[in-house]
Amino acid sequence: MAADRRLTAPHRRTTIIYDAEARLWLLSTPSSSYAVRLGPDDAPYNAHWGRPLTIEQARTLPPDREELPAEGGERFGAASLQIRYGDAVRGVEWRHLGHDIHGEPGGGQLAIRMADRHYPLEITLHYRVRPGSEAVERWTRLRNAGTEPITILRCDSAAWTAPPREDYRMTHVVGDWGREFQLRRGPVPEAETVLTSRRGHSGHQVNPWLMIDAGDAAEDHGEVWSTALAWSGSWRMTLGRDQDGRAGWTGGFGHEGLTWRLGPGEELETPVFTGMYAPDGFGGTSRRWHDHIRRHVLPAPDRVRPVIYNSWEATEFDISETQQMELAERAAGVGVELFVMDDAWFGGRTGEHAGLGDWWPNPDRFPNGLTPLIDHVKRLGMRFGIWVEPESVNPDSDLHRAHPEWVLHQPNRARTEMREQLLLDFSRSDVAEWAHGWLDDLLTRNDISFLKWDMNRPFTEAGDDVWIPYIRNVYAVMDRLRADHPDLLIEGCASGGGRADLGMLARTDQIWTSDNTDALQRVAIQHGYTQIYPACTMGAWVTDSPNRISARLSPVRYRFHVAMAGALGIGGDLLTWSEDDLRWAAMLTEQYKRIRPIVHGGRMYRLGDCAVQYTRGPETVVFVWQPTALRRTTSPVLLKALDPDGLYRDEETGALHHGAVLMSHGLPRPLPFDTMSELVRLTRVTHS
Ligand code: GLA
Repeated sequence: MAADRRLTAPHRRTTIIYDAEARLWLLSTPSSSYAVRLGPDDAPYNAHWGRPLTIEQARTLPPDREELPAEGGERFGAASLQIRYGDAVRGVEWRHLGHDIHGEPGGGQLAIRMADRHYPLEITLHYRVRPGSEAVERWTRLRNAGTEPITILRCDSAAWTAPPREDYRMTHVVGDWGREFQLRRGPVPEAETVLTSRRGHSGHQVNPWLMIDAGDAAEDHGEVWSTALAWSGSWRMTLGRDQDGRAGWTGGFGHEGLTWRLGPGEELETPVFTGMYAPDGFGGTSRRWHDHIRRHVLPAPDRVRPVIYNSWEATEFDISETQQMELAERAAGVGVELFVMDDAWFGGRTGEHAGLGDWWPNPDRFPNGLTPLIDHVKRLGMRFGIWVEPESVNPDSDLHRAHPEWVLHQPNRARTEMREQLLLDFSRSDVAEWAHGWLDDLLTRNDISFLKWDMNRPFTEAGDDVWIPYIRNVYAVMDRLRADHPDLLIEGCASGGGRADLGMLARTDQIWTSDNTDALQRVAIQHGYTQIYPACTMGAWVTDSPNRISARLSPVRYRFHVAMAGALGIGGDLLTWSEDDLRWAAMLTEQYKRIRPIVHGGRMYRLGDCAVQYTRGPETVVFVWQPTALRRTTSPVLLKALDPDGLYRDEETGALHHGAVLMSHGLPRPLPFDTMSELVRLTRVTHS
């Protein structure tokens, strides 16, 4: 039969194919396929998400579970679409209008155009596959084609269905301030499970991604279906089982109880919800996400992430020009490439209580503005970065005195202060314009290469119309700044990792992973962060010992070895470090610069919970961290994905190892008794 092949390419490349007779679309990535099929009722159904299929194979599969279940009819699970028309009727009865396939070099986009049978609501299901990527990106667009407003109670980006399996498990990360990204894996409960943030940012508590497996996946084998949402505000994913026990989930932006009024001719487009199938376990899943994010999400993936120094832990609010200059001198001495001045450089900001919103250099602290410090930093051979929190305001600030109406608030309701601050209503275009104005000015007048964009409190007193436009305006300001200042680097931060998501990563270069810089606890935080997000985006500082939060003592090498597995920064009070520690710092920073291309551009293999390998071409780096000083692991660290017939040279000792031996017996151990961490650099010197 004649399939309408608008976009064809050899099987196992990234393609979109339409089969008109079967009313079937087949999206293929190099190692997966995703099939959508219209049912007899005209509704769109998933027919397959998993291993690669040909169009002939996919044609044998029936329409199975709905691609975007609306409420109504014989549906009792969580609805992706909740709509109320002018006459109070709800739900969607589907009518297929047509589809568009747009080829993009090596990939493509599909739009399945649908409408309600009776009401003038158009619903487009969007899909995108990208060159070489394993991801299927999905989003939804609604359009009111009528003359009366339509109320949207919920519009998710996508619903996903796992194939029938006996023992589903879910994997996700949970946490709080200072303990973000704690990995959890367990059965999919039979009762509905909701992962959500109601805070207006994506949240420390649960990160907006979810993995499902059949209970049999492990690090290196088994099928895993995973999804991550590109949204930095409130979100929700609802995972449930249907009457047959099938696991499925729907997810998107928005906030419970809010409604969206879609006026005549208006559209609502959701953020992207990305799905990833991996046949090779949790390790394969992570590597697919890292590849996808590095190639298709990050705005400047190839840019070298500089070694930064950040002064926050050293100084907190007590800063001065001389002290920053002295810290900069020490930082330059250990090889730092970019010096970041954190909070308290502006307005009357001498503590948490005042000054946020007054974005000019504090005249007592910087009587001649920022130029003397920036010049000093540049003379030392570093670039300069600065902390900002554009969305916040202290009530005790000139900005708030001038514009009390600019903050999130509601009539007859108290204004909730957190960390003695309020949030500016970024959904207002005048607020967003103001923020863009002073940020652009700051970057234009000063030689600033890096912004740490912080957001230190959740939403409160936000009206219905705030939640979504607020985030879009934050995105728009960041995008504009990046466009006008093309060399600018942005670090996303929300009291640490409270706003780490694909939406933020699309306009930042790295994320401040956590305010918890205790190296030992960081191992778990980094383990969770890198399940999805790549190491090049994982801001990681070496700070003082004892640690400011945990009071734990740890050797400088250990602290470095943990941070060197991400985007290295130094955040300790270098003015108090011993000569010995400063020497170590310089040596390890130097070593980091040599391995940075491997850590940031290579493929990551987890070797258990406390060891990670990065491999790029012939080069491999392995980090091993002891779980505690007392509990020493002597179990072998087995390397992965090496050439079994290759010979590998240890760059420190010069010893030669066989790839096959490293993979079956591991690195030579045990370690010397006082070693809490190791960094092994291997280069393949011969291969098969
Ligand atoms: C947040 C950030 C910290 C620091 C402070 C400054 O807590 O996560 O790194 O920048 O704000 O107030």
